[in-house]
Amino acid sequence: MIPADLLATFSLNPARIDGRPMSERRLSDLRDCFADKAACDAALARGDPVLYGVSSVEPAGGDGQLHYGLGVLYPGTIGDEYHMTKGHLHAHRPAAEIYIGLSGEGAMLLEDEACGGSCGGSDAGAGNGCKLVPLRANSVVYVPGHTAHRTINTGSEPLVYLGVYPANAGHDYAAIAKNNFAHIVIRGADGKPALQARALYAKS
Ligand code: F6R
Ligand code: MN
Repeated sequence: MIPADLLATFSLNPARIDGRPMSERRLSDLRDCFADKAACDAALARGDPVLYGVSSVEPAGGDGQLHYGLGVLYPGTIGDEYHMTKGHLHAHRPAAEIYIGLSGEGAMLLEDEACGGSCGGSDAGAGNGCKLVPLRANSVVYVPGHTAHRTINTGSEPLVYLGVYPANAGHDYAAIAKNNFAHIVIRGADGKPALQARALYAKS
């Protein structure tokens, strides 16, 4: 029996899947994510903006089904750090995901859980355990299983993307809440995104 509601339509501006609620995260929800706490508190004193929203389609069914969500991450910085999602591991660790960039300019910060985000000692952070992969229109980022993933908006427009993941993936935010990502993505002195070890960030 083929289910009835197989088609979803979406728009990019405003970014949403038609007829689906948008679940929103505000700056206060990400207070512990940003490295520069003073900058975060100063921003919160001015207001509590929505940083991103996700509109999801999660059909019922068991093993083998897919879920997907349209995300919109608004541009901006807190201190030197770009707006980002909370980030998570999948509760079912082997579950991979693909991110399809639709508009805007950003990146996926990926950290292999087995490496604890360690990158082989490089200050810049590039290494086997950690990668910053561009996410923009006409690109697809493959997020392997066992990999913490966070979306970063490095541009000046909303970053809109689709995430497609196994129905049994689930979200584990607790590990990120405990240890955070080992790396941050900041606007460098040259105005370009730079990956940096959190522990080496002067204002942390
Ligand atoms: C699902 C997925 C995305 C994110 C979305 C918001 O597995 O990776 O749909 O849920 O980008 O990010 P989080 O969930 O980290 O707040
Ligand atoms: Mn995910």
